[in-house]
Amino acid sequence: MRIAIVPALILGCTAAAAPGLVGGLLGGVTGGLVGGLTGQLKNTIGKIEQQLNDVGVTGSALLAQLGDIQPLSKPSSIQDVVTILTKIGGVKPATLLESTVQLVLSGLGPSNLATVMNQYSAGVNSENNINREPASPVYPAAAGDVPYSITEEKLRGAIYIPSTFTYGKKPPVILVPATGTKGGFTYYNNLGKLLPQQEYADPVWLNVPGWLLEEVPWNSEFVAYAINYISGITSRNVSVVALSQGNLNTQWALTYWPSTRALVSDYIAVSPDYHGSAIIEAMCPSLGLLSCTPSLSQQTYTSNFIQSFRQRSAAAFVPTTTIYTATDEIVQPQHGTGASGYLLQDSSRPAAGVVNVELQKVCPLDSPASLLSDHVSPLWGAALQALIKDALTHDGPADISRIPNWTGECSKLAADGLTLADVVGTTSIGPIAVASWLLYPKRVTTEPAVPAYAL
Ligand SMILES: *[C@@H]1O[C@H](CO)[C@@H](O)[C@H](O)[C@H]1NC(C)=O
Ligand SMILES: *[C@@H]1O[C@H](CO)[C@@H](O)[C@H](O)[C@H]1NC(C)=O
Repeated sequence: MRIAIVPALILGCTAAAAPGLVGGLLGGVTGGLVGGLTGQLKNTIGKIEQQLNDVGVTGSALLAQLGDIQPLSKPSSIQDVVTILTKIGGVKPATLLESTVQLVLSGLGPSNLATVMNQYSAGVNSENNINREPASPVYPAAAGDVPYSITEEKLRGAIYIPSTFTYGKKPPVILVPATGTKGGFTYYNNLGKLLPQQEYADPVWLNVPGWLLEEVPWNSEFVAYAINYISGITSRNVSVVALSQGNLNTQWALTYWPSTRALVSDYIAVSPDYHGSAIIEAMCPSLGLLSCTPSLSQQTYTSNFIQSFRQRSAAAFVPTTTIYTATDEIVQPQHGTGASGYLLQDSSRPAAGVVNVELQKVCPLDSPASLLSDHVSPLWGAALQALIKDALTHDGPADISRIPNWTGECSKLAADGLTLADVVGTTSIGPIAVASWLLYPKRVTTEPAVPAYAL
């Protein structure tokens, strides 16, 4: 997700005296692909900067300013989107604010962020769903699992079951969103559209209250419950697909709710941050006018949470396929065996095979899959769809050598069946996440404690 405005804003605040910050930002934007910069935008960035120096600043005031940033153009084809993202993308933390503003200006964000945020809990993003009773109770947690701290009503209500769901005729797949988003925003325009058309997959998604901005272990309870519950209402094992923090949640659930391990046939991890991110480290100063939300403070590279996670949760518990890009603008490092998304194999769990897919290593470097890769783009790319199909139709994780014409998949601009609107709907996850971060009232200046059960 292109949440990148936040770090730049925070840097803007801590480095308030640095001259030329606004000039630098504006220079970057005008020097980029969007061409001229409107007076309106100059005003907006200027106003945001002023407010960052004002102790009374509130997230909603910032959101109103963000809502002022209106697209200057709209992409007219998926090729346009690829071209724009290829130019914006790359690992350049110093220009993250420019990147986000460019995304919105280029028509790759929602048309009005403020409206989106006001409708955050409606329809496909609802967190108060009424879902049927499972054949046998799945609450309280099974013996050997950590007791849930959240009520069953709340855990179950967060599961959104679309009308396409077959209740066990097809293999169920649980889709877990990322920091600052809901399952509807994250998946409606990609896997939520494509998977129901396949006989090997039947998706539902999680709309976790608090947008995954609350503490990571708390968010994880929703995944643990959903695995038991969806298995309970389908009498089948389930698969899980997660984006970004959704992967910390899934691994944490598999670690501390071991009842889930026998129920997961496949787990596919998109842009995971199993080692947090050095970029988030730069945006979560211990003191600042806009400090981080609980889950962000726990996703820094050196957080206490990540240190705890690395001890018990850094190796696969179930057959796992990870997919990530070396040029991720949010999660770094994301290359080689030191990649945050690189999941280990535990020799005592041989059945839990792992395949780590770093896109630039397995796709031609000049293919769209390698070139446009930012944090979210794997979601709408053809490579992920091919890996999901292969994993779900075989025992164990995906195997690239089994995929017919893998290089052809890397060369596609987008997964078959996705329209321009679907692609733009998916790139909009980034600006939506930015807005939710800015708006979220709970801020911490020190990281929340790791739960006692994990010590
Ligand atoms: C789920 O998978 C486990 C193996 O991990 C297997 O023993 C069990 O029979 C499966 N359950 C269902 C309902 O298919
Ligand atoms: C592989 O896929 C590409 C892209 O869809 C296609 O152009 C090419 O013809 C395919 N090659 C084979 C051998 O099927």
